[in-house]
Amino acid sequence: MKIIDNIKELKEEIKKLKGSIGLVPTMGALHNGHLSLIKRAVNENDNVVVSIFVNPIQFGINEDLDKYPRQLKQDAFLCEKERVDIIFAPKASEMYSDEKNNLTLICPPYEVVDKLCGKSRPGHFDGVCSVVAKLFNLTKADKAYFGQKDAQQLFIVKKMVKDLNFDVEIISCPIIREADNLALSSRNQYLTENDRKLALNISKALFNIKKLFSEGIVDIKALVDVSLKIMEGLDVEYIEFADRNTFNFQTKADRNTIVLIAAKVPESKTRLIDNINLWE
Ligand code: PAJ
Repeated sequence: MKIIDNIKELKEEIKKLKGSIGLVPTMGALHNGHLSLIKRAVNENDNVVVSIFVNPIQFGINEDLDKYPRQLKQDAFLCEKERVDIIFAPKASEMYSDEKNNLTLICPPYEVVDKLCGKSRPGHFDGVCSVVAKLFNLTKADKAYFGQKDAQQLFIVKKMVKDLNFDVEIISCPIIREADNLALSSRNQYLTENDRKLALNISKALFNIKKLFSEGIVDIKALVDVSLKIMEGLDVEYIEFADRNTFNFQTKADRNTIVLIAAKVPESKTRLIDNINLWE
């Protein structure tokens, strides 16, 4: 496995590869969620590139860019075990030679970013799309793997690929959870014991919605009310019902519904996201 930190060398190595290329973009601090994407990429491609890059331009000024976990050694060990071919782990100065306000960015339309995570994180998806587009260009990936954990990100990246005719297939992978249903996240490292207990109520609320929906309850207000009770003690930023094909909000739950939650836990102030679909 090669660990590459600069664009010139990456381009040279990519040129040498024979067969298909799978890309798994990450910000590192790899856990079993990331590893599920990596395993699938290794299964489906002749070559796999994992990018590990805490992308500064997708973080807001008061967010956790500085304290975001960085553990390249451990990540490299895990990737090597999975038979990854290349880790691309550049410094920010290698990816961006200019300030954010002097860069060419890809900006998804207002309709898809002015809601959910995009609403509380202005500019976040411009940063995500711009870095992902750069990674597509640099790796010439045939397939790129994204988790449904970040459902809005997945929707927006798919839209970017379609709108801009990128020659890459986006593969969406299911959410990996702990045994007690907490969705795996690099940010779970921030949680105190008490936070973690409270955080469990996010997935509890989502699974409860799925159960109630299977019993015939489609009234969103009723579903939101019980969920907010379950999530008492958390600072819920949003709980929304969106159509999976458009990400438009709905007035009634149906078989195309994805239910999305973002909430902060009280002690570490960590912001967590999770979602569930009602069609499976
Ligand atoms: P990061 O949060 O590191 O996530 C990398 C990929 O792993 C994303 O596609 C995410 O959806 C997926 N993932 C995270 N937790 C998961 C889980 N529990 N189950 C399944 N998949 C999971 O998302 C990003 O990085 C960045 O925005 C990035 C796309 C790399 C651009 O900088």
